[in-house]
This record gives sequence, structure tokens and C-alpha cells, in this order.
Amino acid sequence: MAPWTRPTDEVLAALEGAVPELSQLLEAADGADMYVVGGTVRDLLLGRGRTDLDIAVAGDAGEVASRLGGALTGHERFSTATVQLGAARIDLGSTRRETYSAPGALPDVAPAGINEDLSRRDFTVNAMVLPLGGADPNLLDPHGGRSDLAAGVLRVIHDRSFIDDPTRALRGARYAARFGLEPDPETFALLRQTDLGTISADRRRSELLRLTAEPMASEAIALLGSWGIVDLPPGAQRLAEKVAEQMAGHPWSALADRDRALLAVIEGDLGPAPALAAATPASPSESVELARGASPEELVLARALGADWLESYVTDHRHVVLEINGEDLIAAGVPEGPAMGAALSDALRRKLDGEISGREAELEAALAAARG
Ligand code: CTP
Repeated sequence: MAPWTRPTDEVLAALEGAVPELSQLLEAADGADMYVVGGTVRDLLLGRGRTDLDIAVAGDAGEVASRLGGALTGHERFSTATVQLGAARIDLGSTRRETYSAPGALPDVAPAGINEDLSRRDFTVNAMVLPLGGADPNLLDPHGGRSDLAAGVLRVIHDRSFIDDPTRALRGARYAARFGLEPDPETFALLRQTDLGTISADRRRSELLRLTAEPMASEAIALLGSWGIVDLPPGAQRLAEKVAEQMAGHPWSALADRDRALLAVIEGDLGPAPALAAATPASPSESVELARGASPEELVLARALGADWLESYVTDHRHVVLEINGEDLIAAGVPEGPAMGAALSDALRRKLDGEISGREAELEAALAAARG
């Protein structure tokens, strides 16, 4: 369903409501033109709340940031700074142009006016600005972002967009899933030609982690596959849905990192999960033996692949510990060494399988094992 957008005066009122400190921001600009930009404008038009605010200054963003005081994190290369203003995090950048020395390279930036700044951006829906404090508070929307947003269209601003920065194709899948957008035919053709091979593994990974962090991550993953941006392993889409489902409830939500588990699905990096899913442990101790070395994400992947037995492992068996320890065995005359560890393991196995219970029985079992 195409998103609905609201009128500009409502947007401004929402902005003032969300950031009562707006006047401080304008003061700090000291006469330089200042704009609300990017996803902030998009989200305000959609009536979605945000805790961060993207602001562009036609001037030195670093100076504005230092006038504002507060916690400041400078990112010099891209002439941006972050300040905390009341409850809002403000990301400040200088209006700029970006050029790319090679496909996938980080951009070289130079100061430029707001129109050039808008034309360097990824999608029309992210290339609208709301001027602050000036005489004309109207939305500046030279690329038709507002009507694209209302019509549910994902559209690039220029046809080198994914060549300059292939992470934008991943961003595109994220926005399409989140807002129910569909690429226009030209953007779709460009998406299909995207080569993620020109960016580093780190950039690819961090952009994918932004995608998997979305509530609609499974849909976004499916788009990566159907647009041909990522070669998904067979069954990845279904597995992503199952993982997301699993991660929405107890006990998995508190155990594993959903974003990383979904990333593993995209990368086909399932570790021992398929083997765990194929296993049929005959007893609690066997399930502990099998699952012990796996990471929480591998466990949720295995559960999503069908390892039902992991439910009781996770809620119950993995928490079982002995009441006795090595000192109890030493006190009972068992010499320190590997035999002691084996004896404790044996007692734990028997406890897990319900053969013994209570401290005395544990000690007896461990001593029997230690004495062979
Ligand atoms: N941008 C871009 N190309 C990129 C990354 C960002 O053109 N590869 C521009 C877009 O205009 C985007 C803005 O920079 O709107 C800010 O980027 P970012 O903070 O990553 O996204 P948001 O717009 O805040 O959107 P969201 O966090 O909701 O994804």
C-alpha cells in the first residue's frame, strides 16, 4: 500500500513539537541557511516519529555544532557532526557535493549549495528538504520525492547511483520493505546491475545489518534475492521468515541477536545449525552434548530449521548444573586431574537424564565414576 503524506504545515508543527529546542539550532546557525534533510523529512511527511534529526547547513556544520555545545562527535571526512539537543540527536552536515574516484569508493566531498546536495543523494524520497527559519518554509523537493512517496515509488536521482555507491541497492531493499515502495522500471533495471563486489566486506556487512534490523527484514531479504542484488542460498527467504518468527517470542528473543542471525541466513553462514536440525537426541544429556558449543544465533537458526528439541534445551537443560564441584571430590579423596572432570561430567549426565537427584546422589555418582 502506498504511504500517505501529510501537509507541510503539519510537518513543521510536528517538528517543533518533537524538537522544542529548534530556536537554539537556528541561533547557532548564525545566519547560515539551514535545512531539515533526508530521512527526517520523509518520516515527518509520513507522520512517523524520529529521535534523530538530519540537518544540513550551508556553511560550516562543525562550527554550528560547537556553538551548540553538548556532546560532539566529529566526522571530519564528511564534514558532519552529531550533537544532543534535549531529547533529540542532531546530525549536522554541511551542504556538499560528492564525487567518487572509482565505483564503490568512499566519496570525495566539497562544499556546494542545497540543490547540488540534494542531487547527490540516493533516492527521491530521501532528497527533500525543509528550510528552517527562512521566509519560505515550503518543502524543497526538486526530484519529486513527495509524489513518489505518496505513490509508493522508489526512484534513484541519477543513473550512476548504484555504481558510485552499491550500498544504496541494499538501502533500497530496506526502504522498499519498510514503506511498501516499488522501484520504477528504470531504477529496477539499475538495481539488477548492481555490483556489491566494489565495496569492502565491512561496508557490505554493516549495511546488511541495518537491513536485518528492520521489523520487515524478511521482506527486505526476499527483495535482495528477487532483485538479484545478493545471491541468496536456497531456502533463505523461508528460513529468514522462520528466524524472525522465532526471535519474536520467548525464549529466543532474550537469547540471540536477531540481526546477526538474519545476516547469517543471507550469507548462508549457518555453522552447525543444519547438523543440529538433523539430529534427534535421545536424552537431555545428548541434547546438551550436541548443542553446548553452538552460539545463540546458531541455535536459533537450528530451531528455525526444525530442531524442536532445542526448545527444552534452551529453556531447561542448558541451565542444569551440579550442586557439587571439584572441591567436594578432593575432600572425598579424589586426586586432581582429568579423571575428576570426567567424573563430574558423568554425574551431570545422570542428573540431566533424571537418574539421580540431590547433592548426596551427585557425590555418590561422581565418586563411583572416579573410582571406575
Ligand atoms: N544518503 C545517500 N546515500 C547513502 C547514504 C545516505 O544519499 N549511501 C543520504 C540520503 O539522502 C539519506 C541521508 O543521506 O536520507 C541520511 O542517511 P541515513 O542517516 O543513512 O538514512 P536516513 O535518511 O536517516 O534514513 P533511515 O535511517 O531511516 O534509513
